[in-house]
Amino acid sequence: MKHEILEKNSILLLIGILLVVAIGGAVEIAPLFWVNGTVEKVQGMRPYTPLELEGRDIYVREGCYVCHSQMIRSLRDEVERYGHYSLAAESMYDHPFQWGSERTGPDLARVGGKYSDGWHREHLTDPRSVVPESIMPPYAFLFAKPLDYRDIVAQLKTNKAVGVPYTADQIANAKADLEAQADPNSDGIDAFRKRYPNAQARDFDDNPKEITEGDALIAYLQMLGTLVDFKTYHANAPENRR
Ligand code: HEC
Repeated sequence: MKHEILEKNSILLLIGILLVVAIGGAVEIAPLFWVNGTVEKVQGMRPYTPLELEGRDIYVREGCYVCHSQMIRSLRDEVERYGHYSLAAESMYDHPFQWGSERTGPDLARVGGKYSDGWHREHLTDPRSVVPESIMPPYAFLFAKPLDYRDIVAQLKTNKAVGVPYTADQIANAKADLEAQADPNSDGIDAFRKRYPNAQARDFDDNPKEITEGDALIAYLQMLGTLVDFKTYHANAPENRR
């Protein structure tokens, strides 16, 4: 009958509820403070290049995540369709992560390299021109809109502040690197390749006159899922960790 005291005294009951919720919360939340130790580091993962980072922002701005997930589950049908299941490390530089919760369209976690840049240009301009039954909306305007990257240095700094290991060199040269990746004939290309060894540099939108939002988005899409080399990756093998 002792709980009668609690049930008849609302303030005591409130304190009791808060206590129990606090314990539950601590058990759920506290492990997150050590999450750095639970994400296995994997060879090949690197911070996004400035152009890819801009592309990712456009992906978020346009709500691509509303119809596309970026997380391949470790189920047989998913692995057969999309490739190796997603590793936690593959999202480690995503703020916020793009796992998504809805697949109106296919998962995009490994779409990089699946199609040519030209296919992406046509598909984004008019999805039904390449996939007649597609219900994806067109994004043709991205190829007419110059990319606004005046704040790219601040963007890298912000990402660094939340844990992405950009070097001082990468931050200082963010603008030059962005321009070099979209124009492999430019002077800055060697320095860019040194700073981002396995990045792809091309005129992604096939328009040498300007860097458009389409350039950034395709650079981002073509990188997705390509950073870790799954021919040499074996879960738990120490040589695959950095
Ligand atoms: C209304 C839902 C919807 C939105 C929003 C959407 N898509 Fe799609 N997407 C689809 C559907 C459905 C398909 C499958 C048919 C097709 O290929 O067009 C698809 C296919 C794709 C594919 C080809 C995937 C593959 O493996 O064949 C890519 C790449 C893609 N979308 C990128 C994007 C990007 C980038 C955005 C944002 C700019 C976007 N989508 C926004 C529905 C959507």
